[in-house]
Amino acid sequence: MLTRKLGPFSVSVLGLGCMSLSHAYGVPPAPETAGRVLLRALDLGHTFFDTAALYGFGVNETLLGEVLSHRRDEFVLASKCGLSRGPDGKREIDGRPEVLKATCEESLRRLRTDVIDLYYLHRWDKRIPVEESVGALSDLVAEGKIRAIGLSEVSATTLRKAFSVHPIAALQTEYSLWTRNPEIAVLDACRELGVTFVAFSPLARGYLTGTLRDVSTLDAKDIRRAMPRFEPETYAANLRLLDGLAGIAREQGGTMGQVALAWVLSRGEHVVAIPGTTRLDHLEENAGAADLALATDAIARLDALFAPAAVHGPRYSAATQAEIDTEQFP
Ligand SMILES: NC(=O)c1ccc[n+]([C@@H]2O[C@H](COP(=O)([O-])OP(=O)(O)OC[C@H]3O[C@@H](n4cnc5c(N)ncnc54)[C@H](OP(=O)(O)O)[C@@H]3O)[C@@H](O)[C@H]2O)c1
Repeated sequence: MLTRKLGPFSVSVLGLGCMSLSHAYGVPPAPETAGRVLLRALDLGHTFFDTAALYGFGVNETLLGEVLSHRRDEFVLASKCGLSRGPDGKREIDGRPEVLKATCEESLRRLRTDVIDLYYLHRWDKRIPVEESVGALSDLVAEGKIRAIGLSEVSATTLRKAFSVHPIAALQTEYSLWTRNPEIAVLDACRELGVTFVAFSPLARGYLTGTLRDVSTLDAKDIRRAMPRFEPETYAANLRLLDGLAGIAREQGGTMGQVALAWVLSRGEHVVAIPGTTRLDHLEENAGAADLALATDAIARLDALFAPAAVHGPRYSAATQAEIDTEQFP
């Protein structure tokens, strides 16, 4: 698979987002199935695996440790801290230096490794200057526990503040045809600073593949149920945009999902994407997007078709939006 530079590493243009193997979209697959997906991903040429302490509150990191640690030298391992299980057992943002350092020790143990290649601050804890949290991560670099620092869901302003403390190798934020917010400022700031932009949920959590037609079929615990764009009426309005994507996909010789991924990769040499899947057939289909070069005019038509004003509904609920720091289109 083609590679791009990320900090001191070279990574496959498509990494594997591992979240849904343990968490998020309803009942996760059995560990044996999840293990097969991880190993097949390596065999297909994915050399960039994305997990977090949050995913299943450690279960996802444990899975990667069990399945992949014997092939540790074949991939760049990314995990995240600062958003995990709090003392009351619930999900909590906590960017205090001592908490980040303690989470890193737990992650290293679960991942069965001596060093995490890329360690992200999963959320900036707005009670704490980002410089302090990044300072803690720079201590971890100095101690050899992590190799590079990343940030997730931050604005260009916060990226620059963090960068003044320590070089930032990657910034991870949702980016797809459906969610264009990074185009306001973050993509440019990353290009200028030499930071790799990692597009998460590049398939818009399944929407852009065209296979999720009826959101009433989503499991009761599926996190998409709490997202405004997945409310039935809003989703139905967004489904109408997919006819145009289907037409462009036919013409470009790919599936809708492959075109959506190729569009993300077309945004710049400093961009990589981390789609997630629980299925081997989807994994193989998605990997094919790395070789799909879209025609320039097809890219322009996709840009226009999914212009931010054409998309219905906000990306997150007000409460979730308050947790993040990214610029957003009105
Ligand atoms: N930093 C953050 O705050 C943050 C937040 C969210 C996600 N992430 C990262 O980004 C990664 C990817 O995000 P994601 O999983 O939300 O988004 P995604 O890749 O946009 O979408 C995943 C969804 O699309 C479906 N899908 C994937 N390939 C498909 C195909 N070829 N055909 C039909 N359906 C397909 C999956 O179902 P199947 O399982 O059935 O294929 C799943 O429901 C995560 O694993 C995580 O590492 C980070």
